[in-house]
Amino acid sequence: MAISIKSAAEIEGMRQAGRLASEVLDMLEPHMRAGVTTLEIDRLAHEHMVKVQGSVPATLGYQPQGYPAYPASLCSSLNDVVCHGIPDSRPLKNGDIVNIDVTVIKDGWHGDNSRMYIVGEGSIAARRLCQVTFEAMWKGIVKVRPGVRLGDIGHAIQSFAENAGFSVVREFCGHGVGARFHEEPQVLHYGRPGTLEELVPGMIFTIEPMINAGRREIKEDRRGNRPYDGWTIVTRDRSLSAQWEHTVLVTETGYEVLTVSAGSPPAPAFAHAGYGQAAALAPTT
Ligand code: MF3
Ligand code: CO
Ligand code: CO
Repeated sequence: MAISIKSAAEIEGMRQAGRLASEVLDMLEPHMRAGVTTLEIDRLAHEHMVKVQGSVPATLGYQPQGYPAYPASLCSSLNDVVCHGIPDSRPLKNGDIVNIDVTVIKDGWHGDNSRMYIVGEGSIAARRLCQVTFEAMWKGIVKVRPGVRLGDIGHAIQSFAENAGFSVVREFCGHGVGARFHEEPQVLHYGRPGTLEELVPGMIFTIEPMINAGRREIKEDRRGNRPYDGWTIVTRDRSLSAQWEHTVLVTETGYEVLTVSAGSPPAPAFAHAGYGQAAALAPTT
C-alpha cells in the first residue's frame, strides 16, 4: 500500500491525538522516581488515557503478525532494554534510565511518542547517552521538508550518533502513523543521503531512534533463563540503550511535531523555531 497523505481534517485529528500522547508523558514525569514500579506507571497512564482523556491505549492487546498480544498500555524499556519492555513489579532504582513509549488513539487517530526518564541523578555516561539520543532524534526532525528523502533523515541521525561514539539499532525503525498504528513508510535511523522515498506535504510518520552506548546488535531478552516474553529486546552486549520518539507532519515548508504539549522538553537550539515550521527557517545543509 502507498504512503497515505493526510487531509487538513485528518491532520487536525492527528494533532489532537499527538497532544494527548505527549500529555500522558507529562503526567508521568513526577512519578518516575526510585521505588515506583513500571506496573504502577502503566496503571497511572492507563487510567489517565481511559478516564481523563477518553483515549484508547493503542498498545494494549496490540498483536502484529508473529507476536503475542501486547499486555500493557505503554512500553517501559529499562537500561539495556532497547524497546518493547513490558511493565513489571520491580521498583525503579536511582541511576536507572527508562524509556516510556505511549501511543493513544483518539477519534480513530494514533499519536505515538516516547521519552527517556533518568531516575535520580544518573551517571554522566547515562545522561550523555540520553541527551545524544534526544539530539539525534531532532537531527532527523529538522531535516523534514518536502523534497527531502528518507535516506537524508536516516543519515543525519546515524552520523550524529556515531560521531558521538554510539551505535544505531537497525532492526527497528520509525513508521507512518495515522488511522493505523504502523503504516508505510519505514523510517530507518541510518542510511545514505539522497536515497529512499521523497517527502510530500501531508505525510505523517514517527522518528524514534534507538541508540546504544556499545555495539548496535540486539537480541531477544532471555535474561535469567526466563522464557522469551515475545516482546522485550535488549542489547547483545548489555550496554545501555536510549530512545526518543515524536510523531511528525511534513508541511508545505518543513515540519510540524504533532506530539507536543506543555511539558515537552524544549527543542535543541539547532531546531531554531522549535516544534513547528522550523525547517523553513533552517539552513538546508
Ligand atoms: N510504540 C511503539 C512504536 O513506537 C510500538 C509498541 S508496540 C507494542 O512503534 F505492542 F510493543 F506496544
Ligand atoms: Co512508533
Ligand atoms: Co512509540
